[in-house]
Amino acid sequence: MNILHLDSSPLTQNSSSRRLSRAIVDEICRHFPQATITYRDLGRNPPAHLSEDTFLALIKGAASDAQTEREVAAIHRSIDELRRCDAVVIGAPMFNHSVTSQLKAWIDQVCQAKITFSFTSAGAVGLLEDKPVFIASTRGGIYATSAQREMDHQEPYLQATLRLMGLNNSHIIRAEGVDKNNPGRERSENNALNDIPALIQKVLL
Ligand SMILES: Cc1cc2nc3c(=O)[nH]c(=O)nc-3n(C[C@H](O)[C@H](O)[C@H](O)COP(=O)(O)O)c2cc1C
Repeated sequence: MNILHLDSSPLTQNSSSRRLSRAIVDEICRHFPQATITYRDLGRNPPAHLSEDTFLALIKGAASDAQTEREVAAIHRSIDELRRCDAVVIGAPMFNHSVTSQLKAWIDQVCQAKITFSFTSAGAVGLLEDKPVFIASTRGGIYATSAQREMDHQEPYLQATLRLMGLNNSHIIRAEGVDKNNPGRERSENNALNDIPALIQKVLL
């Protein structure tokens, strides 16, 4: 079992998404003690934003300078990590109704036409082999009503980009109301933590 573990909160102190993603990885490792983990802290070390030079170098297969060459290599490494793992765990907090820009930068690395998906006459087709993806989703608000759900461009967006690449088997562990000043925050986090064993059991065992 090879696990790709991504965290994308730029916050490290009392980070709910980091706590939940870690707990998901720990639970997988409890069942698969030989598991290997590739960890990427996108929150602390965000991928470079996709530049024109890098985009063109990816298409042509040749970079014009050392910086572009490094960025192209980083993109191929991220795609390889995603392609080679057996399960993905993503810590994904909501920032301004979407994912963090750090996670968006990773998505812009790995969602590449002709590499992880292709356009066909029948629409886009994912090129990655399907595998389970566990998303630790956290947000300060509550998105239960349909009006609030319309403002959720975090979970539907993330799951749609995963599907684009052929990853149809994504699962959400969610803690809502985890605003740093909300006294109910701990309860919400604990509820999400409690959901993890049953989800791992259902999906992986
Ligand atoms: C810059 C910023 C923007 C945020 N935007 C939203 C938002 O649009 N909706 C929401 O419900 N919570 C929002 N939050 C709250 C976070 O989603 C919540 O605190 C989450 O737990 C942060 O993840 P972390 O604890 O892993 O750092 C925002 C927090 C920050 C710091």
